[in-house]
Amino acid sequence: MKTIIITGVSGNLGQAVAKKFLRENFKVIGTVIPNDPAKLNISDANFETVTVDLMNEDEAEKFVQQVIDKHKIIDVAVLTVGGFAMGTIAETKMTDILKQHKLNFQTTYHAARPIFLQMVKQENGRIFLTGARTGIDMRYSKGMIAYGLSKSLIFRLAELMNEEAKGHNVVTSVIAPSTIDTPQNRKSMPDADPSKWVKAEDIASTIYFYSTEQALAIREPVLKVYNNA
Ligand SMILES: NC(=O)c1ccc[n+]([C@@H]2O[C@H](COP(=O)([O-])OP(=O)(O)OC[C@H]3O[C@@H](n4cnc5c(N)ncnc54)[C@H](OP(=O)(O)O)[C@@H]3O)[C@@H](O)[C@H]2O)c1
Repeated sequence: MKTIIITGVSGNLGQAVAKKFLRENFKVIGTVIPNDPAKLNISDANFETVTVDLMNEDEAEKFVQQVIDKHKIIDVAVLTVGGFAMGTIAETKMTDILKQHKLNFQTTYHAARPIFLQMVKQENGRIFLTGARTGIDMRYSKGMIAYGLSKSLIFRLAELMNEEAKGHNVVTSVIAPSTIDTPQNRKSMPDADPSKWVKAEDIASTIYFYSTEQALAIREPVLKVYNNA
């Protein structure tokens, strides 16, 4: 049985990815944060959650080591932890930038680094980082300065990981959603047309495809999951 780590498994995207990979017969290990309200409704013998604050590098490293000790191989990792903040340049101070950097970049790096090192060692693995369309082209980040800057680094990190992993069959992809159709987005944008947004389930299916044998030869993918938004 193959093993997948999903960070932020209680989130919209995290839950969709967990359900997809459980259907595909993976062992799923998902991270939740301390004092996370129980909003997960997944009950499956192949699903386990571990409480980890991914803002803490030592905790993240310890968590990944525990997974390696128990399961030996990490086949796939989908790192979904992140958040969002609005703000023009006038409204964004360095503390705001550092806050988004911590939430979007540091939580990703803390998990990605030990997972990447293990995958290079085992000469196999697929890592999916979560960027955003805003992180690809800064014109989409107007009015969301701190968020856009933090997400832009996710793409640079993937490039560096793919460069270091050349020849090891370890590939890092970046998922770049436009707007995900979530209850929170529907509430905060009541006048928008959610049918144009991308469904978390569709992103999960795309991720699954890129982790399969059919996608074995693909390198350095940026998955622009925009739908019609
Ligand atoms: N939603 C969109 O429209 C959209 C668009 C483009 C990109 N994205 C990106 O896609 C990803 C997933 O989005 P989503 O809508 O699924 O977000 P979400 O529902 O808010 O999920 C994020 C998850 O990360 C967890 N988390 C937060 N801080 C953490 C920490 N320090 N340590 C460990 N876990 C932590 C959250 O736990 P709690 O819920 O308990 O806080 C939650 O489970 C994010 O990176 C987001 O930036 C989203």
